[in-house]
This record gives sequence, structure tokens and C-alpha cells, in this order.
Amino acid sequence: MKRVKTTMGLLAIASCLAVPALASADEAFGNVDNGRKIFQEGKGDVPACQSCHRLDGLGDDSQGTPRLAYQVDSYIFKQLKDFEANRRTDDTMFAMNDVAKGLSEQDKRDVAAYVHTLKTPYLGSDLEQLKKDGVEVGEPYKGKMIVEYGAPDHGVPACKSCHGFHGRSAGRMYPAIVGQNYVYLKHELESFRNGYRKYGTKTLSKDELANKEDNERVNDYMGQMRAVAGHLTDEDIKNIAAFLTVAKPNTPGNPRTPGRL
Ligand code: HEC
Ligand code: HEC
Repeated sequence: MKRVKTTMGLLAIASCLAVPALASADEAFGNVDNGRKIFQEGKGDVPACQSCHRLDGLGDDSQGTPRLAYQVDSYIFKQLKDFEANRRTDDTMFAMNDVAKGLSEQDKRDVAAYVHTLKTPYLGSDLEQLKKDGVEVGEPYKGKMIVEYGAPDHGVPACKSCHGFHGRSAGRMYPAIVGQNYVYLKHELESFRNGYRKYGTKTLSKDELANKEDNERVNDYMGQMRAVAGHLTDEDIKNIAAFLTVAKPNTPGNPRTPGRL
């Protein structure tokens, strides 16, 4: 809050002096205050995001919801646009397509800007608890190998080459996958793989989109992610998801969490 006030103060001074305002990167993407309101209270028929993604933006394995906290804002915005246009389907609860249709373009920007400000620590899923609940969980050390080096014997590139160290995001196009929830990670990797098996890496036409199955994710630009997921085995997916959910975004010896990459 303090930072927001300071920025507003600066803006006021800047406009008096007719000097271009130096808004922070978060505010440049959207209005954080409006985003916070939508996230916490909802808007019109759109339910509050926190009811499914939690107040801290951590998401929840029992609902299959992803962590949104600190995710790249332009990535969040793109997903909301894709849900709106049915380029991506939420087959866990079918809520996200309605949610996205109920928000204006500006609302989408604002809520994306807001979730990027959430600095919730990278807690990830509790793998022991998931096992107790009967969920099949992979081996983090095996997943780490694929994230860092890929699995060249069956055509899988290193996740790191696009998503950065431990999948902490790289540039605006590649989302953070570190500290993401296990159930969500597994579900998305399976959905991209389903998309690859049916369509390869092509961009779908309107008709094809209308007829695609709900568990096929095909909204990745030039099929980049499908081309990767298409080669993953069931074991790979469980191992990778187990590693990423417990992994940390900071490099050894450097306790600082990286800023926007
Ligand atoms: C009824 C529950 C529910 C509500 C309310 C909800 N979400 Fe979601 N959201 C989900 C589920 C479930 C998924 C995962 C969908 C999937 O697997 O494709 C999801 C996925 C997302 C994603 C994709 C994230 C990624 O990493 O690709 C974004 C972005 C998102 N939600 C934003 C929002 C915003 C913003 C709001 C509020 C305006 C909201 N959600 C409200 C259930 C919900
Ligand atoms: C060639 C680049 C590339 C490589 C290599 C790559 N990815 Fe991706 N990945 C992407 C892109 C681009 C997206 C964003 C798709 C979109 O816009 O919806 C993505 C999205 C994802 C998502 C969805 C994130 C979310 O929040 O829904 C997951 C999970 C993921 N990648 C996991 C992986 C894993 C695991 C590996 C390694 C086995 C990997 N990726 C390797 C390009 C890549």
C-alpha cells in the first residue's frame, strides 16, 4: 500500500511539472486497485477470484486451481483472453470461460497487474498429504533431470531452455511453472499432450476450436508447448510436476527471489 501511495505522489508531482510520469511496471500493465477489488470481491456476475484461487493467490489442489501469485502479467492476460475466446477450456469446473467472458479487456489487464503484485512465497503442494489422499505422486529428483537437461532419449527438451532456471519464467512469453500446484501442473501437461496427439502444433481454425475436446489445450503460440508435452510419458509428467511444485525460483547462494524477468 505504501508503495502505491508513493507512486501516486510521484505521479501528482510529475503531472504538475509536466514531466512524463514514471509509473511502476505493475501499474503500467493495469490498475492494481481495480484488479484487487475484482480479485477479492468479484464484479457483477463474476465471482471473486479468491473463492477458488485463495486470497493469497496460491490456488488449491482440491479444486485443481493454479497459483496465480506473481505470475507474469502478460501471460495471465493472454490466458483470460484465450478463455474468453474458447481457445482454452477449463474442463475442471468450466468456470474460467464464464469468468473471462464477464470481464472487460481493461478488467483483465487490471486483475493480471494485481496478481503479479502478490509476493506469496513459493510453497507449492504438500506431496506427502497428496499421497495420503491417494494421489499418485512422482519423484522430484527424476523430474529435476528433465527440467534441467530434458530427456533426449525420447525427444523432450529441457524445460529450462524456455521457462528459465527451475521454471521461474523467462521473458513475457514463458510463464512461471515453479511452485505451481501439483494437480494443476499434471492436468495442464496432460491437456497439452492431448492437444498435440490430435492436432500436432497447428493453430486451430474457428470450426476446429468449436469442435475440440475440453481436455485438449491448444492455446500455445506456434504449438511450442504441445511439441514438448507430446513427448512426455505419464511417468515424466508425474516426476516433473513433483519437482516443480517443491522447487524454488532463486539460484543457490542468492537468497533473493528474482524480480520480473
Ligand atoms: C469457480 C472457481 C474459479 C473462479 C471463481 C476463478 N477461477 Fe481462475 N481457474 C479456475 C480453475 C479450475 C482453473 C484451471 C483451469 C484449467 O485447468 O485449465 C483456473 C485457471 C485460471 C487461470 C489460468 C492460469 C494459468 O496459469 O494458466 C487464470 C489466469 C485464472 N484462472 C484467473 C482467474 C481470475 C482473474 C478470476 C477472477 C476474476 C478467476 N480465475 C476466478 C477456477 C476459478
Ligand atoms: C520451446 C519453448 C518451451 C519449452 C522447451 C517448454 N515450454 Fe512450457 N510453455 C511454453 C509456452 C510458450 C507456454 C505458454 C503457453 C500459452 O501461452 O498458453 C508454456 C506453458 C507451460 C505450462 C502451462 C503453465 C500454466 O500456468 O498453465 C506448463 C505447465 C509448462 N509449460 C511446462 C513445461 C515443462 C514441464 C517443460 C519441459 C518438459 C516445458 N514446459 C518446456 C514453451 C515451452
